[in-house]
Amino acid sequence: MIICLGIGPGDMDYLIQRSAELIRSAQVVVGFTAVVEFAQPLLSPDSQVITMSYKDQVAKLEEVARLHHEGLKCVVLFMGDIHFSGFQLLERVERACGHPVETVPGISSSQILASKTKVCFDETTFITFHRRGDLTPFQKHMIHVLQDDRNAIVIPRPWDMMPREIAAYLIEHDIDPKHPVEVWEHLTQNEASWQGTLAECQKEFSDMSIMLIRTLNPMPSQL
Ligand SMILES: C[S@@+](CC[C@H](N)C(=O)[O-])C[C@H]1O[C@@H](n2cnc3c(N)ncnc32)[C@H](O)[C@@H]1O
Repeated sequence: MIICLGIGPGDMDYLIQRSAELIRSAQVVVGFTAVVEFAQPLLSPDSQVITMSYKDQVAKLEEVARLHHEGLKCVVLFMGDIHFSGFQLLERVERACGHPVETVPGISSSQILASKTKVCFDETTFITFHRRGDLTPFQKHMIHVLQDDRNAIVIPRPWDMMPREIAAYLIEHDIDPKHPVEVWEHLTQNEASWQGTLAECQKEFSDMSIMLIRTLNPMPSQL
C-alpha cells in the first residue's frame, strides 16, 4: 500500500487526524528531509524512514515503490497540500509505482496565508513557480490574473523567481506598481511578514516564503 499525504504548513497542529494516523501506523515513511523532520514526532520507532533530496529522489522513489510492491505500508509526505505545487512529485511517485496512488489532502501554506491576510479563495488565483521547466505560461497567467482584478497567491521559485523578481516581472509587463503585496515566511513556525507595494518589493526572502498580490479593485461586498 502506498499513500501520498500533505503534512500541512509545518506545525503539527495543522496536520489532519487521518494523516497523523497513517504516519503513525506506516512501515515506511518517505519524503524530502525537511518535510520528514517536521513529522518526526509522529514516526513509529519501528518504521523505516527514507529521506530524499532533489538529486536522488528518483532512485529513492524506486526503492519505495519496490517496498510498496512487496506489501509494506508506505506513506510519502508532501509539504502543505499535495494539490498545490505538489503534482510534479506526485507524478514521480506514480511513475515509480507504475500506477495511480491514493492522496490525502493537507492544509496548504496558501490557506494559512489566506487566513492571515483575509482573502477570499473565490476572488484569488493560486500560482506556483516552484516547479521544473519553463515558467513562461505561469508568468503570463499571473499577468492575466491581475488584469482580471483578482488577487494572486504566489509560491516563488528559489532562487531565480523570488518575490523581487516576480514584482519586477509584473512591473516590466505594465502591471501597476501600486498593487499591495504581502510576503509571509515560515508560516506556523517562526513567522515573519512584510507588507508594501510591487514597486517596494526589493527585499530578499527565504525559500520558505509565500506572496500575496492584492487586486487594486476588490469585488464589492456581496451583502
Ligand atoms: C514545493 S512548494 C509546496 C507547497 C505546498 N504543497 C503547500 O501547499 O503549501 C514549497 C514552497 O511552498 C512555500 N511554503 C510551504 N510551506 C510554507 C510555510 N509554512 N510558510 C511559507 N511558505 C511555505 C515555500 O515557498 C516553499 O518553498
